[in-house]
Amino acid sequence: MRSPIVGARLAHILDLLAEDSWTNVYAGELEVRPPGAPTTETAIDRRVAISNPRRLAVSPPVLSARQQRSACNSSVLTTARLRLRPWRDEDLEPFAALNADPRVREFFPSLQTHQESAESMRYIDDHFRRHGFGLWAVEVIGHASFIGFVGLSVPSFDAPFMPCIELGYRLAFEHWGRGYATEGARAALACGFATLGLADIVAMTAVGNVRSRRVMERVGMKYHAADDFDHPNIVAGHPLRRHVLYRLTAHDWAAALHE
Ligand SMILES: CC(C)(COP(=O)(O)OP(=O)(O)OC[C@H]1O[C@@H](n2cnc3c(N)ncnc32)[C@H](O)[C@@H]1OP(=O)(O)O)[C@@H](O)C(=O)NCCC(=O)NCCS
Repeated sequence: MRSPIVGARLAHILDLLAEDSWTNVYAGELEVRPPGAPTTETAIDRRVAISNPRRLAVSPPVLSARQQRSACNSSVLTTARLRLRPWRDEDLEPFAALNADPRVREFFPSLQTHQESAESMRYIDDHFRRHGFGLWAVEVIGHASFIGFVGLSVPSFDAPFMPCIELGYRLAFEHWGRGYATEGARAALACGFATLGLADIVAMTAVGNVRSRRVMERVGMKYHAADDFDHPNIVAGHPLRRHVLYRLTAHDWAAALHE
């Protein structure tokens, strides 16, 4: 069920969004590939902290039937400059290149091999098929057919704030500094709140990843130091283990549309 806030304001919000820089375009063109073996970084762990009193209102991966139907309408998101779309086989080479770039991977424990990138792509594709949303491949309309990904995903590790849905983004270095991540993130959040009816969306990164944190702040997400956590997939003592968590509620997202 949609949150009351989103439900009550949905028509108005969609009007506002239609006037804004993005529209949600149905393309129904999700490709179906066999699910691949998950990588260490993205391995699925469906453990859900159902007893956690701090858990968010959304309980992924179980979206309602209505949400799942809506999710089918979110296979392509179009913004003023970007198309967030399903992945294509030809995205693998540029995706593997950015995952092998130390500048892009500065706040990850390691670079990714070509094979790990291929596994990540299969995992992302499988996530779309299971959940109806995911990390969209991003193209700059008329300029670049693939610059990275932006989207929403169900994290695969256990943490105090699970279950949740996470905003994520990763762009090739040469496309930084142009506002693409923020533009794509806004479209993904709008899809999550207005189309999927989510109540909360989180974002997380290593404490020192200032660029990523700036994107979170630009899209209106809120940081509370009390939410800092040690990422369970990064070994104890590793300098990247400490992570920050940002949150945005549907209420705050809708309110910001009026500012
Ligand atoms: C995180 C990441 C996507 C951020 O990229 P980014 O380019 O800094 O972010 P944006 O695309 O929103 O661009 C914002 C910058 O573009 C500038 N900009 C230029 N033209 C702009 C425009 N037309 N509109 C908006 N901003 C514009 C902004 O001023 C801002 O510059 P600043 O960083 O000097 O303040 C990128 O650093 C990345 O891919 N990192 C590696 C992966 C990663 O760490 N992901 C997050 C892990 S969870």
